Amino acid sequence: MRRPVRSAAQFIPPRLTIAALQKAAASCTGCNLYQRAMQTVFGEGSAHATIMLVGEQPGDQEDQAGHPFVGPAGKILDKALAEVGITRASVYVTNAVKHFKWEPQGKRRKHKKPSVSEIAACRPWLEAEVQVVNPRVVVCLGVTAAQSVFGKTVRLNDLRGQFWNTPIVSNVFVTIHPSALLRFPEAGQRDEEYRRFAEDLRQVERFLRA
Ligand code: URA
Ligand code: SF4
Repeated sequence: MRRPVRSAAQFIPPRLTIAALQKAAASCTGCNLYQRAMQTVFGEGSAHATIMLVGEQPGDQEDQAGHPFVGPAGKILDKALAEVGITRASVYVTNAVKHFKWEPQGKRRKHKKPSVSEIAACRPWLEAEVQVVNPRVVVCLGVTAAQSVFGKTVRLNDLRGQFWNTPIVSNVFVTIHPSALLRFPEAGQRDEEYRRFAEDLRQVERFLRA
């Protein structure tokens, strides 16, 4: 993925720590998404985490709270992590894109998928987070995260359930985004897909124990 002319690159601070990155990202204008969001939602968690979880972008609730995965998708993620014995404290949680992209739908702010160029513009933050945390495994939650980490357009089903090496980090695992689970119309299918998601996380947990 080629770096766009305008990107987060020029906002990366010289000294790489999570605190310094978080602070610098608060005033990032590397793409237009900062204009309509309330704030930058940077990654959070232990700087020595063994697992880095990468989502797509903050949602409505994350945008208001300023923290990643605190809304409905976060609840599912927390449940699945707890089920397989991964504590939220042992992970670093972030997103491919750090600002909430939305369009109005009545009174709601409806999530809008980030574009290829927005994902590329925000990628320097994710690269810096990977450098600082140096996790043993990076778990991409959904195709946007995978697209950023692999640095190219990818298909979820081609990559799901296996470990890969990418230009920015090795041991990358790809699974579905937890909010995609909410969109299956049928309860039975939702349960089945949730089980598959939890099984993916179990595979990551086993990999780390091996
Ligand atoms: N969905 C994401 O991808 N990230 C969040 O932080 C919340 C919802
Ligand atoms: Fe900067 Fe990323 Fe926000 Fe765009 S989405 S303004 S690149 S932090």
